This record gives sequence, C-alpha cells and structure tokens, in this order.
Amino acid sequence: MLTPALLCALCFGLLSAFARAGYSEDRCSWKGSGLTQEPGSVGQLVLACTEGAIEWLYPAGALHLTLGGPDLGARPSIACLRPAQPFTGAQVFAERVGGALELLLAEGPELAGGRCVRWGPQERRGLFLQATPHPDISRRVAAFRFELQEDRHPELPLQAQGLGMDGACRPCSDSELLLAACTSDFVINGTIHEVTHDTELQESVIIVVATHVLRQTLPLFRMGGSEGQDQATIRTLLRCGVRPGPGTFLFMGWSRFGEAWLGCAPRFQEFSRVYTAAHAAHLHPCEVELD
Ligand SMILES: *[C@@H]1O[C@H](CO)[C@@H](O)[C@H](O)[C@H]1NC(C)=O
Repeated sequence: MLTPALLCALCFGLLSAFARAGYSEDRCSWKGSGLTQEPGSVGQLVLACTEGAIEWLYPAGALHLTLGGPDLGARPSIACLRPAQPFTGAQVFAERVGGALELLLAEGPELAGGRCVRWGPQERRGLFLQATPHPDISRRVAAFRFELQEDRHPELPLQAQGLGMDGACRPCSDSELLLAACTSDFVINGTIHEVTHDTELQESVIIVVATHVLRQTLPLFRMGGSEGQDQATIRTLLRCGVRPGPGTFLFMGWSRFGEAWLGCAPRFQEFSRVYTAAHAAHLHPCEVELD
C-alpha cells in the first residue's frame, strides 16, 4: 500500500525526473512538454546562468523557475524575458517579495516585445509559469529567452521595463532625459533613415544614421564608416507607433539580447535645451559632451 508520504516521494521523484530530463547540457536552458507532466503539479526548475531559454510545449499545470548566476550573488538584478512568437498557452509572472506576482508575459500583442523585472537583493529571482486553459488541442508553445544582469542603478526608476520603454510609450520627462543620458546603455546622435514594422514580433525597427556615439556600454554600434556615418538598428514596441520624422534625435536606450532597445529619443535641440538649463543650475546628474 502507498502511504501519502511515499506517494509524495514518488511524485517528487517524477517531478524532478521530468525537470532533469529537459535541461540543456550547460543547464542554462530547459525544454519540456506539459504532456509528460503530472496533472496539477508544479515542476521545479533551476537555471543558474545569466542567459538561457525556456521552451514549454503544450503547457499544463505550472512551473517554478529560479534564475541566478553565481557571479550575481545577492546583488540587485534586472531580468529581461523575450518571448518567441507566437507565445501561447501560458502566462509568466515574476515573484516579488511577500509572494506577490507580477505579470511579465502573456498571449497576445500587449506584452509581445518582452518585459524586464527588477529584483532587489532580498528577492529569490523566481518566475512562475502558469498554463492557461485551452479548450482545443492546437499546438501551443510558451517559449522565451531570458537575460539576467546586475542592476547598476537600483536607486533609479526602471525606465526600460518593457524591453524599451516602461510599456506606456510616452515621451520622457525632462528629468528622465537627463538621467537617461547618464545611465542608458547607449546614447547616439542621429537621424531616422527608415522605420520598418514587424507585425509578428509586434516590434518596430528604427534604422538610424548615427553621426556620433556619445556613450555605449557594450559594442552595439561600430562607428567609423567611410563617410563618418553609420547605420544603427534600434528596436521598439510596434504599439508605440514610431514614424520617421525629420531632424536630429538623441537616441538613448538599452542593450537587450544583443540588440539595442529604445528608451528616450528627444530631439537633439530639445535635449540640449534641457541639459543646458540643468547645467546652469548645477542640477545635471552627469556631464554630457554636447558638441
Ligand atoms: C548632434 O547633431 C546635431 C545636428 O546635426 C549637431 O548640431 C550636434 O552638434 C550633434 N551633437 C553631438 C554631440 O554629436
């Protein structure tokens, strides 16, 4: 006869076997199917890497995923998730202190480009993946890549919560512009050459002719073309409705998954006006070389 304790030991064994089976060799990624998962169970996954991927076929029940590379220790971190499209069959939540859940990925265009979440030093870097009920047997895959990095500015508001903006698609305020120029992964001066739209990914791609790279923390843009001008590709969410416009802009933003994502993009003149005023009042958060 099976006692409840033995049953549970069995189910735990099944669960870990289920999870173990799906890890990649480097244990940075996991792939598995809800079809082989015990109904109603919560699969436990641990990916101790700063980059990796999850591919959950026919999601069923739930998965709990703990992220974290050893180098990161207990430092504050930002995790970004980039869903494969179409993303179907599940929702992904970030676990916050006190057990609250914050929605990061779901079916549909709203969260298409991906989301970032910031975890404080006390937080466990947990993600909770919950299958959504589907009446039919159509193919469903909830797949995403993740990237975990140290939060270098935990004292500042998270401007790049959507992979680019905070999801609101609003222009940045003056104080946000000044901070963005100091903290963004890149700041480039340039004009919009072209904007293309990818409806499947729900993203717009801005081709920028860059005249000057004021700052970049990663080698996203390589400058030094023969004309002293180079094209840079910057992504943003389709629903932000970016259109080509004349004039020179200061494009600022974030490196995510090796791609540049737009944060703030004021006109150069506008930024120059705001910065000069802040500088005169000694309120500029950092020095920016404007000419
Ligand atoms: C940015 O471009 C504008 C217009 O071409 C120019 O006036 C300005 O000096 C440039 N600034 C920098 C820092 O490259």
